[in-house]
Amino acid sequence: MSNLADKYPRISDMKDRAIKRMPHFAAEYLFSGTGYDRAMDHNQEILKNIFLTPRYLKGTVEANLKTKLFNRTYDAPFGIAPVGMTSLIWPGAEVTLAKLANKVNIPYTLSTVACASIEKVGMHLDNNGWFQLYPPKDKNIRDDLLKRATDSGYEVLVITSDIPASSRRERLRMAGVSVPPKINLRTILQAAISPTWSLGVLKNGMPQFATMDKYKNSQGNKKISKGYAGSQMDRYLDWDYLEEVRNIWKGPIVLKGLMDNRDALKAKDYVDAIYLSNHGGRQLDIAPSPLQVLPNIRKDVGNDFPILIDSGFYSGQDVVKGLMLGADFVMIGRPFLIGLAAVGTQGAAHAHYIIKDEIENIMEQVCAKNIEELKKETVNVGKEFILASLD
Ligand SMILES: Cc1cc2nc3c(=O)[nH]c(=O)nc-3n(C[C@H](O)[C@H](O)[C@H](O)COP(=O)(O)O)c2cc1C
Repeated sequence: MSNLADKYPRISDMKDRAIKRMPHFAAEYLFSGTGYDRAMDHNQEILKNIFLTPRYLKGTVEANLKTKLFNRTYDAPFGIAPVGMTSLIWPGAEVTLAKLANKVNIPYTLSTVACASIEKVGMHLDNNGWFQLYPPKDKNIRDDLLKRATDSGYEVLVITSDIPASSRRERLRMAGVSVPPKINLRTILQAAISPTWSLGVLKNGMPQFATMDKYKNSQGNKKISKGYAGSQMDRYLDWDYLEEVRNIWKGPIVLKGLMDNRDALKAKDYVDAIYLSNHGGRQLDIAPSPLQVLPNIRKDVGNDFPILIDSGFYSGQDVVKGLMLGADFVMIGRPFLIGLAAVGTQGAAHAHYIIKDEIENIMEQVCAKNIEELKKETVNVGKEFILASLD
């Protein structure tokens, strides 16, 4: 890894190369937010406003990043967030990232609308995978998805709550994003100047909704076959629906996309963990950063209820900040794909290495021997962080 570490010491150092190697529509799909990209940009601004005041004279320590969550001990306090149509971003991404996660002992979350099926990806996860559910309105489809995930050995179910409606995704419209990619002069030209991506498609096949394909013609899901709109399949979620899923799924359930204290408190009665997220700034452009709501939600739900978080965490520094403010685990979306698109399989592994090494370095600099000690460090927030509600 040493050459890569010199060439790309930070995730951000790989971004330009990733963009160069991807067709424009794929890069726009990965890097766009929604609306005016305010939520997406704001996630990063907020992270810049958090600091750690170090204390010293504790001798030297060796940092141990192992983190317990549910019934497992992971090798690091972060995992891979669900990303739909991942193979549109980089061909074969689902299997590549699942294998990586399994090897380095961090969780990989397969999206309902990924391009590789529950079964195919499950084979690489040794009963250690997480499956993300976009809750289909058609309960037959839902129950079948849950059965397939159980049969394929997925351990944790992540239910995404923050898409009651599709967002406008203006940049995607302009870039002509669709699945399968539209074969027209514009996309052919974009693919032609991205030969590595195109060869990947030849090897792995055109990106499809591999898990959802089975239900293409089902009554309740007429939209599935309609390209990108299909990925926004008919969804529905309320507390009763959640209760029904609770009665079916035997393993831990994580509720993703929550941002409000009241929802978080109520969720305690239904699920095993909450996952604060604004979907990487892709849904509600006027949403705050999940980090801003984290401290109060932690206060309300108590110290023993697991909180996961994502949206804008692009470095080990960012992960450390999430942990110090009260999260138990940080999920990461775009950075793994930046590594994959920039350098291929090795690049995804490099993204993992960078984040882990940055965390380790900070822990050793502040003499925190484990994650629990790190969480007790003194955290400072800039005034931009404070979120006030008007009553
Ligand atoms: C291209 C793309 C596709 C996504 N697809 C899904 C999805 O299918 N299901 C889901 O729950 N979240 C999805 N997300 C949101 C991610 O799970 C995660 O919340 C977000 O990427 C975190 O922000 P980050 O990319 O800044 O780390 C997607 C995000 C991106 C960038």
